[in-house]
Amino acid sequence: MRKKIVAGNWKMNKTLEEGLALTSEIVNMVKDEVSNDVTIILNPPFPLLNGVYKLIKDTKQIFLGAQNCSQHASGAYTGEISVSMIKSVGAEYVIIGHSERRQYFNESDELLSKKVDIALENNLKPIFCCGETLEIRQNGSYKDFVCGQITKSLFHLNADQLSKIVIAYEPIWAIGTGVNATPDQAQEMHLTIRNHMAGKYGKEFANDLTILYGGSCNPKNAKDLFGNPDVDGGLIGGASLKSRDFIDIINSF
Ligand code: PGA
Repeated sequence: MRKKIVAGNWKMNKTLEEGLALTSEIVNMVKDEVSNDVTIILNPPFPLLNGVYKLIKDTKQIFLGAQNCSQHASGAYTGEISVSMIKSVGAEYVIIGHSERRQYFNESDELLSKKVDIALENNLKPIFCCGETLEIRQNGSYKDFVCGQITKSLFHLNADQLSKIVIAYEPIWAIGTGVNATPDQAQEMHLTIRNHMAGKYGKEFANDLTILYGGSCNPKNAKDLFGNPDVDGGLIGGASLKSRDFIDIINSF
């Protein structure tokens, strides 16, 4: 059985005080209101990681993730954050290849494959993001494009390594726009990704892979999106900044 996951990507939002307050609300609401066994991952900005960890460490189903990591292990890279630092403050996951990193920080498929490698070497589980622009969606090449992203950054891994990875399909045209992919569009792409994985690693392996949807997911559309057979949860941006919305999305399963 593959894992159901709802991950919150806080992006560059929340001061320490605000982030800890949000975490406390989420911890309390999960205790009182969540009865499913969905794995919940909070991905706050770096300075908040350890503070958030202290609030979630005694919970059964809330885990911590970072939003990015360096491809280097350590050394003279001013301003960068290494995977061992991320591990040392309590995180188990790291988002790699978010479209905002690809777009604004020129992160290439090749660079992302290095980040995936160093994360895995340090027992940090990558949440690997992929997804097409509106232009690529409209010209019809989106399946090839997204499968290409996966091939270029992940297909050098063996099945054991890849089994630690969570995939997040996030069409760029749906991120922060209020226009989510329809449940059919999400299902089509998630099945395409799963089949692409099955082609290289086998059907059984692909069946166990968790594939999240991201892009304007909210309490109103989560149920329909998560109702698809190949959608195993969500990577939530804006709606993860409000405890009520985030909990309602978790309870959409
Ligand atoms: P959104 O962002 O939910 O605000 O669209 C999702 C993401 O970028 O991970």
